[in-house]
Amino acid sequence: MTLAIMSALLDEQRGLLAQLVNPQRVRRAGRTFWCGQWGGQDVVLVLSKVGKVAAATTTTVLIEAFDVKRVVFTGVAGGVGGGVKVGDVVVAEAFIQHDLNSAPLFPRYEIPLYGRATLDCDPALSAALLAATHVGLAGVGEHFHRSLLLDAPEVHQGLIASGDQFVCDPVAVTVLRADLNAAGHEPLAVEMEGAAVAQVCHDYGVPFAAMRTISDRADAQAPLDFSAFVTQVASPYALAVLGQFIKHL
Ligand code: ADE
Repeated sequence: MTLAIMSALLDEQRGLLAQLVNPQRVRRAGRTFWCGQWGGQDVVLVLSKVGKVAAATTTTVLIEAFDVKRVVFTGVAGGVGGGVKVGDVVVAEAFIQHDLNSAPLFPRYEIPLYGRATLDCDPALSAALLAATHVGLAGVGEHFHRSLLLDAPEVHQGLIASGDQFVCDPVAVTVLRADLNAAGHEPLAVEMEGAAVAQVCHDYGVPFAAMRTISDRADAQAPLDFSAFVTQVASPYALAVLGQFIKHL
């Protein structure tokens, strides 16, 4: 039962790669897949690349060429939900594409011919990821947060909205939230890949779960916060959480 661990960013993947026993590098579709074992599990580590199409391609190759039976995604996201702060973590319950609009042919946000706008993550895998997030972050310790002037992270679970845009404008966030709310959706965070991974996993019947560390509030500060945050916070969080997750699979 090979597990795929997809990361959005190289910095994040480096820490995970160091855990891999017997790493084998395989190139496909312009991507590097690292196959090996972690905690006795067969795993494949790969970068999703950025954006929905790239992430869908990566997921398809994982399933078709590497026969993965479970997919977990770790990355960063912009917080858009009330109370979702920089340094918090969101474990996805479901994904929606905030930039999908085939109206008037289909209701806004609905994935054409799927009859739905949101795709749920796998409940059992997500519950395991949520538990691992709590334990993993507790292990990171208060000293770590204090040294980076962050509050202790809160863990949220809910809807994540994906789109092919880096959102860094409070007006855009207000519009995005209002439009999604009007259609009955309450996003906690925005990013650029998850809904695509969820759709491919849905098509193949492969369980999927995702966690995103909040790197910014999708405002003008967002591009500034980004790289340092990934190195200093999101990467150690991903390592701590996935280390726990693997242990209990
Ligand atoms: N990933 C991290 N922050 C993001 C943002 N503000 N918009 C889209 N993707 C992101």
